[in-house]
Amino acid sequence: MATATPTSFTDKVEYSPEIAEFSPAVVEEMRSHLTKYPADRTRSALIPLLFVIQRERGWIDNAGVNFLAKFLDLEVTDVWETATFYTMFNMRQVGRHHIQICKTLSCRIMGEPEITDHICSKLGIHPGETTEDGRFTVTMVECLGSCGTAPMMQLGFDYYENLTKESVDKILEGCK
Ligand code: FES
Repeated sequence: MATATPTSFTDKVEYSPEIAEFSPAVVEEMRSHLTKYPADRTRSALIPLLFVIQRERGWIDNAGVNFLAKFLDLEVTDVWETATFYTMFNMRQVGRHHIQICKTLSCRIMGEPEITDHICSKLGIHPGETTEDGRFTVTMVECLGSCGTAPMMQLGFDYYENLTKESVDKILEGCK
């Protein structure tokens, strides 16, 4: 049975007071981000720091948010409101290969529904789900700014454009 990965940011997040721990090297990396901003504007480092949390923990979890709130001397709600605003931050654990399919107008009229159906039927999941083996998660997202090469998707940090069923097959085959 595939596990559900909520696609809505209004999904309830369970709160826990646990605070994440990171290696000295990671904390040092986080401190280095702070130096890019004025001393009284450290909140501006939230986005790069959230990326570090996501890379280290696989997603933006309670414990990571609690760490950042403490690290930046913010309320946890300040961190949550930023993290939940951007779809690039995963609010649930995702598979090793995170496929984000653009569902906005240009992609939609250029064949996104067929591409989505093809990917999901190949993987045996629905949008918002993760495969049983934890390899793939499919998420539907809004415009990724590559409308001229629709339909497109993001896999990890890479864009794949002008998608066809054949090109999708090759892309999925290349995922270990
Ligand atoms: S509509 Fe799909 S990238 Fe813009």
